[in-house]
Amino acid sequence: MEGQLYLDFGEEFRPVNYTVAQIKNLGLIRSDENLKTLLKLYDEVTDIDIKREIVSSIGRQTDNENILKFIHENVFNCGFMELVYQMYRTCLYKGKNCAEFAQLGEEIKNYFDNEVLNKMYDYFSYRQNHVGKKIREKFYSKPILLRGNNVETLQKIEENSVQLIFTSPPYYNAKIYSDYHSYKDYLDDMYKTLQACHKVLEDGRFIIINVSPVISKRPGREFESVRYPIHFDFHNLLTRAGFYFVDEIQWIKPESSVKNRNGGYQQTKMPLSYKPNCINESIMVYRKNCNFLLDKNIAMYDKSFANDENFESSNCWYIAPASNKNHPAVFPKELCRRILKYYSFRGDVVLDPFAGSGTFGEVAIEMERTPILCEQNEIYCDLINKGNVYVQL
Ligand SMILES: C[S@@+](CC[C@H](N)C(=O)[O-])C[C@H]1O[C@@H](n2cnc3c(N)ncnc32)[C@H](O)[C@@H]1O
Repeated sequence: MEGQLYLDFGEEFRPVNYTVAQIKNLGLIRSDENLKTLLKLYDEVTDIDIKREIVSSIGRQTDNENILKFIHENVFNCGFMELVYQMYRTCLYKGKNCAEFAQLGEEIKNYFDNEVLNKMYDYFSYRQNHVGKKIREKFYSKPILLRGNNVETLQKIEENSVQLIFTSPPYYNAKIYSDYHSYKDYLDDMYKTLQACHKVLEDGRFIIINVSPVISKRPGREFESVRYPIHFDFHNLLTRAGFYFVDEIQWIKPESSVKNRNGGYQQTKMPLSYKPNCINESIMVYRKNCNFLLDKNIAMYDKSFANDENFESSNCWYIAPASNKNHPAVFPKELCRRILKYYSFRGDVVLDPFAGSGTFGEVAIEMERTPILCEQNEIYCDLINKGNVYVQL
């Protein structure tokens, strides 16, 4: 990144070209002269990326009195949260040995009450108190089938013992295996399951939910149908249960495989009667809240666990749906394969709390993971375990 600024050469300012790297260098070499230059640059420069680097470089300097003064004078009126984050960062690091910085850091955090600052504080505090721990206890090495309501059966599973959760819950009352009295009842039940999932999932690992909007049948032509945006509501349930949003992947199906909704519009061409064919389902990727970076989860595995060269580069995955005469809503195996490939390692314990016919477990075993499946319908349970592969707890 390049820009123009004016450096103080005695009486007059002369323009010079500069780069982020040059600003970084000014920060790395600690001297009163460099701090003076950086403070002057802060006032002169308008480019926000350069300014951010200047603040970071000021934080690397050693004249704490002047740095404290600079942050005090600027942090509450600098106009950009990017700059506030850098100033707060300085307060966190310098606050380890200097009470004034610690106190100013507290003031900044309370003043802005901002989620990034709060997360910075949590990460920083965690790192002060934890040294890298690489060893993890392995609880399960055989596939497990839990028969019954997952809210209860998951209580049998050890806390923090699962490395990935992938599931497709009932889409409210869309299929024969589920019937809730109301959408609220449905969401309440889903929330209880997510709480149980949170308990068993290892800190920092992923929970991935496949859902899409559904429509309730019209009770008669004189009534409107109700369309439920289940994935929007799941976002709230997931965050309340202790997970945070990472990605949304779109599972795209061939248009010929989905219900045709174009009929009405095709006949009348009237605006407002338009209904597109829904060829996508959401694959909602969330991570269990924790105070450390994903790097720490990855560092538990050596290079021999890396995947092959091929990978999907975008968040649109084109996969044909699957059908199974024994279950009305099965995962395509390819979808399970990709989820397992990108979000778990060989040897991991992986959970599907709404297992249905057990497709996820089947692919997990093929890919050398240990599945735990929950299913409350006895017929589906028998189907899952027809090969007697699963231990039943
Ligand atoms: C969408 S289907 C899952 C299909 C599955 N992905 C497959 O490939 O076959 C949801 C399943 O969750 C089961 N289910 C619903 N509520 C449950 C609960 N509370 N505990 C355990 N299973 C439940 C249903 O019986 C149904 O088979």
